[in-house]
Amino acid sequence: MFRTIALTAATALLLGSPVLAETAHQEIEDVAFAHEGPFGKFDQFQLQRGLQVYTEVCSGCHGLKFVPIRSLADAGGPGLPEDQVRAYAKQFSVTDKETGEDREGLPTDNFPANTGAGAPDLSLMAKARAGFHGPYGTGISQLFNGMGGPEYIVSILTGYTGEEKTEFGATFYENHAFAGGWIKMSPPLSDGAVEYQDGHDNSLHHLAEDVASFLMWAAEPNMMARKQAGFISVIFLALLSTLLYLTNKRLWAGIKGKKHA
Ligand code: HEC
Repeated sequence: MFRTIALTAATALLLGSPVLAETAHQEIEDVAFAHEGPFGKFDQFQLQRGLQVYTEVCSGCHGLKFVPIRSLADAGGPGLPEDQVRAYAKQFSVTDKETGEDREGLPTDNFPANTGAGAPDLSLMAKARAGFHGPYGTGISQLFNGMGGPEYIVSILTGYTGEEKTEFGATFYENHAFAGGWIKMSPPLSDGAVEYQDGHDNSLHHLAEDVASFLMWAAEPNMMARKQAGFISVIFLALLSTLLYLTNKRLWAGIKGKKHA
């Protein structure tokens, strides 16, 4: 009896696995980002380019409703000068919560929400998705190689095959990075889709990396401070351990010494 059940389960697994593999197989590429590793820092210019890509392309469908516009001035972030942040905020029209009237955006507002196109908010997307949870779901690879959300976003943006199909009145685009293989987002980026002011390479892959890095910062603006605090704690704990070891040795010196005497 037990054997039959075990065998059936094994057969189901065996038969099931190719199907599972077909639907769940996602191709996520590893990208070397500046912010990876225990000492990684965001590349300020990359964040600025990513902001441009987000603003010109992604914001047409996606919101960033949890991100305060004023954080664009933060050191460790895109680091825009205050007047540029004010000018950036101005382009949005906001309904004031207190007066109920429409006014120009201010740095103290958040980025607008945008749900019109059925596109998810991107504020936390880079932390909500991981490229690779391994090995064995421990996430260790994410810690060391940074195979996290930004890699997933780059892979989605560059993973289109060009195939599309219409089902239930909606168009789906084949994408090897997306679970299930078909996504409702039309390919948002292509080579040269955004013209950078600094003349930086604007091929598809670069645009994707820049906006992914920007979205990682948006999801975790204090990453650098967190890493720094972690590093200082480790040094402090190492020092404390040494001192405790020496104190312990000294406290026991008399007693331990007697034994030998
Ligand atoms: C034309 C509208 C449109 C534009 C422009 C657009 N998106 Fe999307 N995006 C969508 C829609 C719709 C979905 C939901 C797709 C689905 O669930 O099948 C989506 C989903 C996503 C997802 C989530 C995938 C997941 O795992 O659920 C990410 C990440 C994403 N978009 C990033 C971007 C970035 C970055 C840009 C700018 C370069 C961008 N999008 C531009 C419409 C858009």
